[in-house]
Amino acid sequence: MSTAIAQEAARRRTFAVISHPDAGKSTMTEALALHASAITEAGAVHGKAGRRGVTSDWMDMEKARGISITSAALRFEYRGHMFNLVDTPGHADFSEDTYRVLAAVDCAVMLLDAAKGMEPQTLKLFEVCRHRRIPVITFVNKWDRPGREALELLDEIQEKTGLKPTPITWPIGTGGFFHGVIDRIADRAVRYTRTPGGATKAIETELTPERAVAEIGEDWERSRDEADLLTAIGSDHDQKAFESHETTPVLFGAALSNFGVGRLLDAMVDLAPPPAPRPDVKGDPRPLEEPFSGLVFKVQANMDPSHRDRIAFVRVCSGRFERGMVLTHAATGRPFATKYAQSVFGQERATIDEAYPGDVIGLVNATALRPGDTLYDGRAVEFPKIPSFAPEHFWTARVRDSSRSKQFRKGIEQMEAEGVVQVLRSEIRGDQSPVLAAVGPMQFDVVKHRLAGEFNTEIALDRLDFSLARLTDAESAPVLTRQRGVEVLTRTIDGALLALFTDEWRMRGVLRDHPDLVLEPLLADTRA
Ligand code: G4P
Repeated sequence: MSTAIAQEAARRRTFAVISHPDAGKSTMTEALALHASAITEAGAVHGKAGRRGVTSDWMDMEKARGISITSAALRFEYRGHMFNLVDTPGHADFSEDTYRVLAAVDCAVMLLDAAKGMEPQTLKLFEVCRHRRIPVITFVNKWDRPGREALELLDEIQEKTGLKPTPITWPIGTGGFFHGVIDRIADRAVRYTRTPGGATKAIETELTPERAVAEIGEDWERSRDEADLLTAIGSDHDQKAFESHETTPVLFGAALSNFGVGRLLDAMVDLAPPPAPRPDVKGDPRPLEEPFSGLVFKVQANMDPSHRDRIAFVRVCSGRFERGMVLTHAATGRPFATKYAQSVFGQERATIDEAYPGDVIGLVNATALRPGDTLYDGRAVEFPKIPSFAPEHFWTARVRDSSRSKQFRKGIEQMEAEGVVQVLRSEIRGDQSPVLAAVGPMQFDVVKHRLAGEFNTEIALDRLDFSLARLTDAESAPVLTRQRGVEVLTRTIDGALLALFTDEWRMRGVLRDHPDLVLEPLLADTRA
């Protein structure tokens, strides 16, 4: 039994694609699934305006904006391996969900637009990977279009992430003349030929150096010289350095034409780490073969308005999951029945009967579960909470009709427990108008929408002129409170004291005058 679990875990690859909006994440998701034959036709996975396929319509708001704010996992098999692609929201706004899903993966694929390189959201997501020490494979997308020089992109990756790029493939041709790639690991070259519309796998033909010289000529020679240069400067893949987050393997391709996507999947199979024993709160890793344990990394309410259900997404950390098991909820010690276990991607749901480390399961009717919670069978275990991230947007909320105050309080509590927003309070502001804090402003719309829909309570929201939060302490708080453009509030969920500043410049000014103040950055705050 235990060997079966180890074997199943070893063939799991659980990952997320991190990218700035428009870099091609939806296209890549479709292309990956197409290669892996999870779906039969490109376009059937992700619902985007004008595309065929699964639209996630759990919220009217989502529909109106034509975006997907749900996160789930797509499962597919490739080369005998089971892939779990955990979806991160693709829109420009940011939520804590985006960060939390990264607690559920073992590897990330950083997707760059060849013309744009590292963009702000790519960097933010990358910061989380760095913090969690998640190995990152970089895929430079849209190589079929005019873009930047490959070597220049490598410099930018190194400069902005601190990771040394180690190209696995090197492009032959640039700026709309993408012939193929040199595979630096397999030591061969392949030529890509587009299939109409990119709806099926691209045709790959082996290129001998003679053929490459005859058929491609100058572009080939240049590419070969650059690949030689990479070898000369030691930019070769090193598995240990990759796993310890010092290097990032780089691949070049075009998801739209399915160029290089198969090679990316191969890299995932060959290089990306399988699930490893997850450390518990004391730092002791839970062996994979132990009975079931899982981490709730996301709770999603109302995906199906007609059922008003709540789904908790759980990453399996150890053991074998069987639908129907009765687990223990570590936070409360209460039993949790798993009769309704599903895999969810967009609107598609399928019942899951069994799952292994690395898999993602959706548990329906999971009202008691919160992000960061642990479920287990057998020996008790609790995994560390998922840290919350630096909010950058702050709004006050108050109830429009005071006779709904009780529902308002309950609703805000619920939003806080689910991690939709952080709730900050102070004596001056009182309980009637807490400050809601979020990483992205769309979270406030979610709160408003859900309080109206689920708690029948209309709220008014007012933006506060703060953009930066720092952790402080009781000694510094009175000094800070006296400064202009600064407010100190208590975060309800953990009692932490947060100092809010209008901007970084203001904070630096305060620090200059009072260098002894305690002002610590919150997690994933990239501003020094
Ligand atoms: P996102 O989920 O990261 O936001 O990006 P998405 O896949 O929607 O891709 C953004 C745009 O980039 C799309 O064009 C898509 O077709 C295009 N794209 C993605 N990969 C490639 C590629 O490898 N090469 C080229 N040339 N284009 C690529 P769009 O016109 O905005 O949308 P659509 O009408 O094609 O859906």
